[in-house]
Amino acid sequence: MTKLELAQDSSDLYTKSLTARKSGPLNGTARIPGDKSMSHRALMFGALAEGETMISGLLEGEDVFNTAGAMRAMGAKISKGDDGLWRCFGQGLGNLTEPDQILDMGNSGTSTRLLMGIVAGHPISACFTGDKSLVKRPMGRVITPLEQMGATFLGRAGGKLPLTMRGTNQAKAITYKLPVASAQVKSAIMLAGLNANGTTTVIEDHPTRDHSENMLRAFGVNVTVEKTDDSSDAISIAGGQRMIGCAVDVPADPSSAAFAVVAALINQGSQITLPRVGINPRRTGLYDTLVEMGASIIFENRKTEAGEPIANLMIMADSPLKGIDVPESRVPSMIDEFPILAVAASCAEGTTRMTGLAELRVKESDRLLMMATGLKACGVELEMGEDWLTIHGTGKPPKGGALIETALDHRIAMSFLVLGTATQEPVSIDDASPIKTSFPNFIELMTDLGATLGE
Ligand code: S3P
Repeated sequence: MTKLELAQDSSDLYTKSLTARKSGPLNGTARIPGDKSMSHRALMFGALAEGETMISGLLEGEDVFNTAGAMRAMGAKISKGDDGLWRCFGQGLGNLTEPDQILDMGNSGTSTRLLMGIVAGHPISACFTGDKSLVKRPMGRVITPLEQMGATFLGRAGGKLPLTMRGTNQAKAITYKLPVASAQVKSAIMLAGLNANGTTTVIEDHPTRDHSENMLRAFGVNVTVEKTDDSSDAISIAGGQRMIGCAVDVPADPSSAAFAVVAALINQGSQITLPRVGINPRRTGLYDTLVEMGASIIFENRKTEAGEPIANLMIMADSPLKGIDVPESRVPSMIDEFPILAVAASCAEGTTRMTGLAELRVKESDRLLMMATGLKACGVELEMGEDWLTIHGTGKPPKGGALIETALDHRIAMSFLVLGTATQEPVSIDDASPIKTSFPNFIELMTDLGATLGE
């Protein structure tokens, strides 16, 4: 029996405030849930393709369930078998049907933006809404290119949800240079391009995660990537190709693994193993950063599965971390990991400087502000600017002893619980429910490794 089972039934711990207490070294092996980005795409692409798509390792979190619900509402058959595999039956590209209810995407920006791309290439209307966090997030970044392709939108000021859109089966192919480094915007345009007349090209000068490109290829779609004169990537997709259902093996999510990794690193003497973690180089900026900070992270048994590199991660906390300057060019490959890096930096010796963080202001919460405010309350010395954060670590965890507002942001919630495993005084979060969007067994998994989490 684990410490948590002894303490209480864990399921209701996700519905209220939660406290992390000083835990000592973490030990053991933990199976991190499936990659969220890939899980969304596997369900969406399976619903667009002809025939059966079989998915192993799907993340069974709320965000992904919202994607499944939307694809079902547009005619796909999606279910989980007794064998634990998810199966998705689609009708082939261009054959989605109009949803007869509002699509409530909950907390999930990825579901919303990618689905807008999919709807843009179909002659159907759809209404999107979401929770209090999602309705604040900017949708103009996908609306602008999708309007150029022929979709029409009626939303709130600034293109925010709730909004209604209408797609077309006569979408125009476009060439579009991304104004922000965003895999969601890139993917939305590519997905609209699947059903457009001609070849759609997205140009990105800062490489973002390429799961859409890799997985579309697995579904039989020809996606090309060429270098432009200024060394940007031009990703092209011709409309009207066939998409055929396939088997998708989703690896463990490196963004979720990051919480266990940093928890181990800030509790000296920890030794943990995380099998089958995705190590796509466009996702592993945090790991490069932690290694530069002096972390012992070993990538064992590297291999490629379903077009994506994976490895077993072994983490040993044998010496304190050191502060560094994080290269700005690395930001897109660790865009979701700055909250947990800020926790690592708060326990490191010396100053960690993070720049180029403007996008953190428009995630599930204003992550820059939420981290700076919460870390200060825990006794961390730091400075924050419009798009940067500097943290002065003392080589020891800060004192803790604060109640943190999580603002419907799963990564803020988990980051502060991780911090609380190392601080002298407990750290509490006001609401653990957002954790279920991306890491539905976080409390159990962390407790099994030795973290002290509870009411
Ligand atoms: C995601 C892309 C990133 C990331 C998000 C998932 C994706 O968002 O923050 O959690 O699956 O494409 P942006 O594209 O807005 O940077």
